Amino acid sequence: MELIDFRSDTVTKPTPAMRRAMAEADVGDDVYGEDPTINRLQERVAEVFEKEAALFVPTGTMGNQIAVKLHTRPGAEVVIEERGHIFNYEMAAMAAVSGTLARPVTSGDGSGILTWDEIKAALRVGGPYYDSSTGLIALENSHNLAGGTLLPRARTEEICERAHALQIPVHLDGARIFNAAAALNETVAALARPVDSVMFCFSKGLGAPVGSMLLGARDFIEEARRWRKLLGGGMRQAGVLAAAAVVALEETPPRLHEDHHNARRLADGLADIPGVRVDPEKVVTNIVIFDVSKTGRAADEICDTLRRDYGVLASGFGSSIRMVTHYDVTRADTDTALNALRGTMDSRQ
Ligand SMILES: Cc1ncc(COP(=O)(O)O)c(C=O)c1O
Repeated sequence: MELIDFRSDTVTKPTPAMRRAMAEADVGDDVYGEDPTINRLQERVAEVFEKEAALFVPTGTMGNQIAVKLHTRPGAEVVIEERGHIFNYEMAAMAAVSGTLARPVTSGDGSGILTWDEIKAALRVGGPYYDSSTGLIALENSHNLAGGTLLPRARTEEICERAHALQIPVHLDGARIFNAAAALNETVAALARPVDSVMFCFSKGLGAPVGSMLLGARDFIEEARRWRKLLGGGMRQAGVLAAAAVVALEETPPRLHEDHHNARRLADGLADIPGVRVDPEKVVTNIVIFDVSKTGRAADEICDTLRRDYGVLASGFGSSIRMVTHYDVTRADTDTALNALRGTMDSRQ
């Protein structure tokens, strides 16, 4: 049985164009700064994001955690939405690597997108009892665990303006910022303009096999290069990876709306399955998270059946299931998955 993989957008295989580019990539030793393909990619990305400099890193986690390290000192707090990736899914690196403490904040409307007032209430600035003080505000766009929700440009601008007035830097985890830009009809530069640093992934919605980019001011990126090496991320002829990223950067963004349409199609179909709770209106990018607690079946059990009986892969989290669309799943695959979901959960079938 052929598998259709909705577990994440990280599962995509390189396209023929990416494989060709990888095979033909011009390479050198990137620890010496001599890989022409990486250098070209970093320059191109800095241009696209209108930031001074960019650094190719092996993973999004490394990019985020270098940013946390450089913006903070040990003992500082990082204000972050409670489901934020940096806080929940990066092996507590913000504590282990930077000695920082997460100050998780709940978004009042459940969207995962914080307002300035919610952030402000969590800040620790001045005051004699605050041994720890806020060293960083970490944002996420789109917000993965909140279901691919969007941080609008104006909200980012407001948060940054107010944070900067208090001398607090802002980092943006933009692992899927190209999905956010497509859905918001903005450029990635506009979404990232007010933040001090931004990380995005080639290996998610953009579909490249490996790699992420950290962007910021020139001196910040110089220092980031040192930390990348310290953390074991100094790669050598990694131009073979960057070559696929170059292709992803050019080819994928214009087609991301197809993934968003497929995600909405999935959500629309799911909303009609008895016991499934999902609001299709809130599915605005490529991530669909739906609650199955009222189906009388555990999420893991549903995922096991989907895989075993239908070859459809999804991720169970407690009482929820997450499905992510990407270029390796077509509209027909989406319909196949919906039929599988109906067959698994709808007792009327
Ligand atoms: C929002 C977000 N940030 C960061 C990461 C980390 O990326 P990586 O898996 O490349 O370390 C992920 C990975 O899923 C993510 O979804």
